[in-house]
Amino acid sequence: MLLLGITAPPAIAEGDAARGEKLGYTCLGCHGVDGYRNAYPSYRVPKLGGQKAAYLVIALNGYREGTRAHPTMMAQASSLSEQQIEDVAAYLASLSAGRVAAGGAAAASLEETTVCLACHGQNGIGLSPTWPTLAGQHEDYLVHALNQYRDGTRKDPVMAPMAAALTDGDVALIAKYYSRLDGLETTKAD
Ligand code: HEC
Ligand code: HEC
Repeated sequence: MLLLGITAPPAIAEGDAARGEKLGYTCLGCHGVDGYRNAYPSYRVPKLGGQKAAYLVIALNGYREGTRAHPTMMAQASSLSEQQIEDVAAYLASLSAGRVAAGGAAAASLEETTVCLACHGQNGIGLSPTWPTLAGQHEDYLVHALNQYRDGTRKDPVMAPMAAALTDGDVALIAKYYSRLDGLETTKAD
C-alpha cells in the first residue's frame, strides 16, 4: 500500500489474439489477398502469416514513429493504440504460426547470406522474436525492403550497415533465395 501513487503507469498487456482478430479485418483487405500489389512503387504486399509477433509490433511502431515511410501503413498504424498494436500483432502472428515456426529443411547455403544467418536463421526463420522471418516472403518485397535500408528511407541501426554492404546483384540473389524457402504465408483468417 505504501507504493500506491508511485507505481509505474500501467504496462501494455501482452497481445490478445482474440481481441486482435476484429482489428485484423481491415488488414486482410490487402495482406490477405494472394499476390496483392502496392501500386507505386509496384511490389507485393508483405506476407504476415507466421511472422513474429514482436517484430510485427516493432514494424507497426516504425510506421507510427516515421522510421518506416509508407502513407497507408503510417495511417493504419497511427489509428491503433499501443494495446491494439499488440493485439493485432498477436492475431496476425498466430495465423499459420505452427507451420512457419517449424520451417523447411535448412537450404543449401548461399555465400551472400552467410552474414545474415546469425539472425535470420539457416532456413530463413528469425532466431529471435524481434528478428523477422524472411523465408517465403515475396521476392519483390524483399528487394524493396533491402533497397529502403540501403537508401535510408527505412531506418534501422542493425540492418542499415548490413544492407549498405550489398550490391544490386547481391540484393537480387538474396531476395530470390529467401523467397523460395518454406515459410511465411499470405495472411488468411483461420
Ligand atoms: C491498403 C493496403 C494495406 C492495408 C489495408 C494494410 N496494409 Fe500493412 N502493408 C501494406 C504495404 C504495401 C506494406 C509494405 C509497406 C512498406 O513498404 O514498408 C505493408 C506493411 C506492413 C507491415 C510490415 C511487414 C514487414 O514484413 O515488415 C506490417 C506489420 C503491416 N503492414 C501490418 C498491417 C496491419 C496490422 C494492418 C491493419 C491494421 C495493415 N497492415 C493494413 C499494405 C496494407
Ligand atoms: C544482427 C542481426 C541481423 C543480421 C546479421 C541481419 N539482419 Fe536483417 N534484420 C534484423 C532486424 C532486427 C530486422 C528488423 C529491422 C527493422 O525493424 O526494420 C531485420 C530486417 C530485415 C529485412 C526486412 C524484413 C521485412 O519483413 O521487412 C530483410 C529483408 C533483412 N533483414 C535481410 C537481411 C539480410 C539479407 C542480411 C544479411 C546480408 C541480414 N538481414 C542480416 C537483424 C539482422
